[in-house]
This record gives sequence, C-alpha cells and structure tokens, in this order.
Amino acid sequence: MRVVIQENYEKMSRWAASYIAGKINAHKEKRPFVLGLPTGSSPIGVYRELIAMNKAGKVSFANVVTFNMDEYLGLPKTHDQSYWYFMHDNFFNHLVDMKAENINILNGMTEDPEGECRRYEEKIASYGGIDLFMGGIGVDGHLAFNEPFTSLSSRTGVRDLTTDTRIVNSRFFGNDPEKVPAKALSVGIGTVTDSREVLVLISGHNKARALAATVEGSVSQKWTCSALQMHNGAIIACDEAACGELTVDTYKYFLDIERKERL
Ligand code: GLP
Repeated sequence: MRVVIQENYEKMSRWAASYIAGKINAHKEKRPFVLGLPTGSSPIGVYRELIAMNKAGKVSFANVVTFNMDEYLGLPKTHDQSYWYFMHDNFFNHLVDMKAENINILNGMTEDPEGECRRYEEKIASYGGIDLFMGGIGVDGHLAFNEPFTSLSSRTGVRDLTTDTRIVNSRFFGNDPEKVPAKALSVGIGTVTDSREVLVLISGHNKARALAATVEGSVSQKWTCSALQMHNGAIIACDEAACGELTVDTYKYFLDIERKERL
C-alpha cells in the first residue's frame, strides 16, 4: 500500500486529480478507461480539479466509462441528495466531453434491487473490469456503503445503513437521521478490490481513526477499509489532519518514501 500525505485538502485533491488524469492520458488502448467514482465531500476537490483540467484540454473523458460506488435506495434521480444528482451536479454536467451513455450509477428506484446489482456487476465485467476505483471512506471506515461487518469479499448488493452513518449523513437531510434512507445499493468490497488500482481519499481529523485502521490496523470486517491492505495497487491520498492517529514511525516512513509526491 502507498500512503501519500499532503499538507491539506486542496493539495491532496490536486495530487489525486493529476494522478487520475495521468492514468487516463496514459491509457492508449482502444477499449475505454474504466473509472470507479465516489460521492461525498472527500472527492469534491478532485472533481473540481478534473473539471478544470478537462476544460483546459489537459484530460479527455471521451473514452472513459464510469461506475459509481453506491446510491440510496428509494431516492429518485431528481432528489437533490441522490448520488445521481450529486454526480451530475458536481462533476458530469461540467465536463466537455463525457458521454451520458458512459455513465453508470445504480438505480435507487429499481423494482428489482437484486437484479439491478447483478446487472451492474455483469456490466463492469463486460468492460473487462475497473481500471481505477477512486473512493472515500466513512468515519467508521466504510468503503462505498460497506458498513462494518460486511464481508470483505462482498459483491454489489443491498446494504443496511448503520445508525451512525445515518446520523453522519443527516447533515444533508435537514439534520434528521430518520430522513436518511435506511438502505442503499452499493458495490461490494470484492468489487472494489477486483479493480486494477484503488485510490482512496482520506482527509480531516474526523477520519483519523479510519486512516489508522486502513493503514496500521488488522485486516478485519469491522473496518471494511482495511481490505485495501490485501490489494496490490492500493493508494491512500490523505492530508495532515487525518494522520493524527498514525504512529510517528508510520507517518515519517510514508513522508520519507513519498517525498517526491509532496506538493
Ligand atoms: C457516504 C458514501 C461513501 C463516502 C462516505 C464519506 O456514506 N456512501 O461512499 O465515502 O459517505 O463521505 P465524506 O467524503 O463526505 O466524508
């Protein structure tokens, strides 16, 4: 696992955006570059940077196919807290050459959640898998909506959200946890770790325990983010604020070996 520590959120975002753009630009095959994407406040800075690069002609999305991590069950696309809405509002609508037919987001209004999730996995496989999955994590270490105790080999499926997650996410639902949907559709931990590369953004003091669990903890279904330790191409991009629970040795080690990446 690589851990790239930047001074703050802006630099973490800039580093991650240029890493992703570099991967897209280096992709010379005819088949599309397949990019997995998250929602949340963590990736907003990356989206902002990628939009600017796209508008400046520094990266094209014409040959990129995207798969989003998750979606609330029961929210229509038009709901301003649906992840479909978030992705279009914060990212897709601003790109100059993203093709609508290349955007894949689980349908939260499906009548057949199991079938929807199966088809999602089949569609990912039909493209030959995901080249790079960008993710964020929750304060309890959930990756996508894979809450604590979700199997580390799970595939796309229906997930029950924990009370903790509903409380954390209630900031977007008028601070009322009851208004946060209780279920979601989510790619599995196995879906994420099957990707050729995984890049996870972790920033802020409130993610310090989750970062330590991801990097230093035991591999455990209690912290589903810890499954990244078993992946051969996992990168954590984080800021100083999130490093508060790492041991000094770990912190110094990664600063040292990744010093050329420091912005
Ligand atoms: C939600 C999403 C996750 C995301 C997490 C963290 O629960 N389902 O995919 O990683 O929030 O969000 P934030 O980046 O806002 O802290």
